Amino acid sequence: MSKTEKLKLTIAIDGPAASGKSTTARQVAQILNYLYIDTGAMYRALTLEVLNRRIPEKNEDEVVKVAKEVNIQLVPGVKGPRTILDGVDVSEEIRLPEVTHIISTISAYKEVREIMKLKQRELAKNGGVVMDGRDIGTVVLPQADVKIFMDACVDDRADRRVKELKEKSIPVDRENIKEDIIQRDLIDSTRDVAPLKPAKDAIIVDTSNLTIADQVQKVIDIVNDLL
Ligand code: CDP
Repeated sequence: MSKTEKLKLTIAIDGPAASGKSTTARQVAQILNYLYIDTGAMYRALTLEVLNRRIPEKNEDEVVKVAKEVNIQLVPGVKGPRTILDGVDVSEEIRLPEVTHIISTISAYKEVREIMKLKQRELAKNGGVVMDGRDIGTVVLPQADVKIFMDACVDDRADRRVKELKEKSIPVDRENIKEDIIQRDLIDSTRDVAPLKPAKDAIIVDTSNLTIADQVQKVIDIVNDLL
């Protein structure tokens, strides 16, 4: 067992849309043999259920009701972590543009965030986790051992998201994707509750000119420096 495995550190990775957090967090967790928790997938699953029930995203009371009712699980799978919504694997559906388009409205509701925060803290309680999102270092796990804030210029982020969606055969329009990213960042960073921002003690990693392997190595170096 490696030193990091024994120490069971808690690693928080936050950042704006398509900054490379999830890919990096997943690979770092794999290398360290830690649990990877994609909090965006949890908000995405909730948003999908709101769409499935045809509830308007502006109807806060109804959305909160759904958040209290649904059972969202993140489970390991052969091709990476899977998102299970009330027993059904929705890992692909939650990435659809319809979900992405309204998610920031739903994620801004105070009670929704409270419910998610408690679930996320429960998942991280034993340490040995890499959790990524928007408010992990600031609100969900303020005591995290390592806090990273990943960022990149909006054009690079739009290019990466287009590539990702094309690989999944989801039809995309680059301008729409870029506009969506800008809109989401704006809502996420200006909301009253748990806005997207670096924690005071976060290390900023600009991924604009980095490959995925570089990004992963940067985080691993930061973890190793701490030890
Ligand atoms: O992968 P991408 O960068 O598109 O985003 P994500 O991590 O899947 O998160 C999707 C959306 O969920 C964000 O734009 C936020 O509105 C919301 N979210 C949040 O509010 N807090 C989190 N901890 C994670 C996601």
